[in-house]
Amino acid sequence: MLSTPPSAVQNSGLQYLTSSTTSQAGLSPNQQLLPLTATVNSNDCLEIGGCDLTKLVEQFGSPLYILDEVTLRTACRQYREALARYYQGESLVLYASKAWSCLAVCAIASSEGLGIDVVSGGELYTALEAGVDANQIYFHGNNKSTDELELALKCGCTIVVDNWLELRTLVALGAQQQSQNQGIRIMIRLTPGIECHTHEYIRTGHLDSKFGFDPHELEEVFAFISQNQTLNCIGLHAHIGSQIFEIQPHKDLAAVLVDCLIKAHRYDLPIQELNVGGGLGICYTQSDDPPSIEAWVQNVCQAMVDACKQQQIPLPKLLCEPGRSLVGSACVTAYTIGSSKVIPQMRTYLAVDGGMSDNPRPITYQSVYRAVVANRMSAPLTETLTIAGKHCESGDILLQQAQLPKTEPGDILVVMSTGAYNYSMASNYNRLPRPATVLVNEGEVQMIARRETYQDLIRLDILPTGLAPARD
Ligand code: LLP
Repeated sequence: MLSTPPSAVQNSGLQYLTSSTTSQAGLSPNQQLLPLTATVNSNDCLEIGGCDLTKLVEQFGSPLYILDEVTLRTACRQYREALARYYQGESLVLYASKAWSCLAVCAIASSEGLGIDVVSGGELYTALEAGVDANQIYFHGNNKSTDELELALKCGCTIVVDNWLELRTLVALGAQQQSQNQGIRIMIRLTPGIECHTHEYIRTGHLDSKFGFDPHELEEVFAFISQNQTLNCIGLHAHIGSQIFEIQPHKDLAAVLVDCLIKAHRYDLPIQELNVGGGLGICYTQSDDPPSIEAWVQNVCQAMVDACKQQQIPLPKLLCEPGRSLVGSACVTAYTIGSSKVIPQMRTYLAVDGGMSDNPRPITYQSVYRAVVANRMSAPLTETLTIAGKHCESGDILLQQAQLPKTEPGDILVVMSTGAYNYSMASNYNRLPRPATVLVNEGEVQMIARRETYQDLIRLDILPTGLAPARD
């Protein structure tokens, strides 16, 4: 780290670095803008996982997703260790792989002792191919196809049942599969009727939600399951939303789940697991103030313990399934700065070589991000710029009012906190190839997703007969 006076730090990209006096392992990754290993080298360049980002871009091209293994593993461990510390009963953390479903991230989460939450046949396949034990996989989704359910039955993962059609389909599939001697392992997803403050597209726990059984039909559901030996209902699940900073809604959820558990016991269902879902938020800007992973877990555990004590029941196995708070802060996206356009008295656009195809969150949810210039980390932030992507769409703006130093074409812009729902929601709009991803740790770099090629872009295309171009 350069020795720079505090005021200069505040007015430069250095402000986003974790203070070097604090032990990194104690920091909650979801409260940082940059990965825990971020530092600046003597060339004034940003390093993550001991790798200079400008060199990574030289080697692997641009744009580039850079995933810091230490930050991801630290977040996994903080969830697990906090559960072990604050909960006397059994517990399991599931990684909500929708946040970033790929072989490497599933394998890393699994190697940290986490199970995996999947929401489609594709995510299930990815987790299985990553070597995750089906016993540790939980399959969600509000409209699973029969093919997807058959795949789930074949591998033996737990199915989180969302609705009546799915329940009935499973009974029918179970009847065909005589080998299901212990019954099909299911959980029931319910809509808890809990409101929380987040973007309306990512709220799921309020009553007007497409997910899960409505509370008023639960008794009927429990009665149905108790009469069907093919179904082995081991638990209840609810998820209230994503990017949540309040703790109270999850505490309320613990109590709601325990109430539903009491109801299920009246139908003699052998329920031992309660899953409170995911949802803990992360920092995208300095003014974001989510609770730490440890504080979130501690509060959820305490609420569960209190609710069980009040109802005089033993502690169930407690599950949670974070996505964003595990991967979000572990990754940054590096772009190369290109053209600019100055509109006097209005704004200056600065364009990068990616945009809404590698990060659809700003255009979808008006999400706000922060960025630094990787090769000018201590330069004063003298410019206020609009960072545009390269797509043919005016709304393709990655950052509004970015505070940056003076830049030149070829400089490397790094957008922070891009691990969650960026790669997983990326597209090929305008036929842009999806960027590569590299995993960095202690100066070592490994590519975990290669960059798409133009050949990849047309791999599914089929020219109608007679239209194939003549080639010599
Ligand atoms: N469990 C269930 C059932 C979920 O639906 C979700 C997220 C999670 C767990 C993980 O939630 P997290 O810990 O990541 O907040 N694409 C949106 C986010 C959609 C979240 C969908 N469900 C975004 O980019 O903000």
